[in-house]
Amino acid sequence: MTFEREARQTLGVCYYPEHWPESRWPIDAQMMAAAGIEYVRIAEFAWSLLEPRPGVHDWGWLDRAIDELAAMQLKVVLCTPTATPPKWLVDQMPDMLPVDAQGQVRGFGSRRHYCFSHEGYRRECARITDAMARRYGDHPAVAAWQTDNEYGCHRTTLSYSDAALSGFRRWLADRYQEIGNLNRAWGNVFWSMIYDSFEQIEFPAAAVTQTNPSHQLDFRRYASEQVASFNKLQTDIIRQHSPGRPISHNFMGKFFEFDHYAVSQELDIAAWDAYPLGFLDREIGDEALMKRYMGIGHPDFDPFHHDLYRSCGELRNGQDKGRWWVMEQQPPGPLNWGAYNPAPLPGAGRLWVWEAFAAGAEVVSFFRWRQPSFAQEQMHEGLLLPDGEANDGYRLCCEINEELQQLLPEPGSSRAEVALIFDYDSQWMMEIQPTAADASHFDSVLQAYAALRRAGISVDIVPPTENAIAGRKLVVMPMLTHITPEFAENLAASEAVVLAGPWTGAKSENLGISEGLPPGALRQLIDIRIRRVETRPAFAPFNLAEGGTLAGWLETVVAGDKVEVMETLENGQATALRSGRTIYLAGRYENAALDRVTRQALELAGLPWLDLPPDIRVRDNGNRRYLFNYGRDTQDLSALFPGAQVDMGSLQLESCGVACIRQPVQPATQQRVPASRQVTT
Ligand code: GAL
Repeated sequence: MTFEREARQTLGVCYYPEHWPESRWPIDAQMMAAAGIEYVRIAEFAWSLLEPRPGVHDWGWLDRAIDELAAMQLKVVLCTPTATPPKWLVDQMPDMLPVDAQGQVRGFGSRRHYCFSHEGYRRECARITDAMARRYGDHPAVAAWQTDNEYGCHRTTLSYSDAALSGFRRWLADRYQEIGNLNRAWGNVFWSMIYDSFEQIEFPAAAVTQTNPSHQLDFRRYASEQVASFNKLQTDIIRQHSPGRPISHNFMGKFFEFDHYAVSQELDIAAWDAYPLGFLDREIGDEALMKRYMGIGHPDFDPFHHDLYRSCGELRNGQDKGRWWVMEQQPPGPLNWGAYNPAPLPGAGRLWVWEAFAAGAEVVSFFRWRQPSFAQEQMHEGLLLPDGEANDGYRLCCEINEELQQLLPEPGSSRAEVALIFDYDSQWMMEIQPTAADASHFDSVLQAYAALRRAGISVDIVPPTENAIAGRKLVVMPMLTHITPEFAENLAASEAVVLAGPWTGAKSENLGISEGLPPGALRQLIDIRIRRVETRPAFAPFNLAEGGTLAGWLETVVAGDKVEVMETLENGQATALRSGRTIYLAGRYENAALDRVTRQALELAGLPWLDLPPDIRVRDNGNRRYLFNYGRDTQDLSALFPGAQVDMGSLQLESCGVACIRQPVQPATQQRVPASRQVTT
């Protein structure tokens, strides 16, 4: 049997039957079906129940739970339980535990207590995965799989265990072949760091001061590859015993400890866990923004991840329409893991779900079915109250289910004309050597994404590959710290307008300064050399002549004759330069100024953009245009979309409101590009 891509979009839920008496299971299954839930994810933390003692399995309860769900035609997403190794296993081989950078063992008592490099633990994972896949691989109700749970969560990608150290040394020996090559690649002549053999190499941690950045980068790469091979171990086994069933993994928000593109190459469906209010509390870190979006969530943070993981979903199947899900969606209630845990505003939960559907999610699956009255997550709201009665989340499912019957959206997404590059190597390079305390690849990419969203532009967030940029009109690459000569050639050969942020191409593969000075290989597109970068704290920005500021990052550029200066500082120093279809920003533009240059790039690419009111966001998918109001006031959008056919909602878009209109619509406003000026040296 082959499970095809869902032909329509639908709801799911994360369920823990093992938390409740069996007599309750049929009631739960009936309630799920009645609310329009189709997919039920189970078992990701159930190892100690499935194998209470070494080699002794208890499948009975899981058989019966799956049967109860199947009886209501619910489809099961079955998880491998490897995120929670049982106590007996940890006692058998305590060296499987992860170790932190200070050498402290991270012990049993919560979850994710394993080191990705440990061969013995890998064998155990293969064993339980094999046993589950054989037992349930062709069960008619098992529609999909999830490997493990949130790889790397709780900072578990980097482990400083003995297993990791020997693995790292082997990895280095394989990569460099001879120790002399490693010494040269890392620049170990500096501070007398020359090694004689791979066996001498330690972790890039616990030294007196900074360790070598190339050493750190290689350790990050090694750790990332461990996650990918750990995942592949499981997907190979599942594919063997459960052919035709798609395999997913649930990624996280603002999480870069491993290369998600690499892991996704073995996944049929990329999924992620969306907690808008948790992210606002934990990841945004700006009081004004937190206040403004309290109860709603940041208008671009979760959508960014939808667009990133959709492109991850394309990587295995090479489909135009990446398969992706929200595997865990915050319910319309408080969480347990923020410093503070506010309740969503009325309508916010619905807005989150529709933003995901508009971005092409096949399934939006809520976390979790019923709020537990025990253990770590007892304060995390579910669709049901701890007493089993329906809560707001349950009612929301019923509401969305009705809407889905009427609108019949299709999964997937039309290829966007704008590609925004996000790159894990660049992320690690900036983490290792930020040069300004607040500089980050991710923050720069999110900022560029928000500028594009403010202009009403739909975006695919993609890796720096030829495939990913094929056919785009605009490629935006903020702080793409490392760029290969091949990718620079791909860009040069494409028809796309390229908007490159500062520090693009600045670093070599091993995190040295690019040959011939930054922007290295990008010089194939624009003839400039960066002679200096200076950085300042946010309270001391650089003022732009055209208005607005650079947020504390300024590069001194030497430009060739054919390069035009588009913008300068008040003192005349070039900050935006252009050569043909390529624009280079020699500083970190803050939002208002970034809007200006982004719109110039859009205009150069022939792309229409919108003058949206603040907090209104737009998403195009096929012939549908979705409108979202992340603000607290109703907005009248009728002048912006005159004569649009409204399929859902209203152009009087209330707070947290969602509307869907039919394309094509005429953009109401567009600005002109100011004439660029010749370079003055
Ligand atoms: C996720 C995790 C779930 C649960 C949830 C709570 O990160 O995958 O198991 O802990 O957070 O919000």
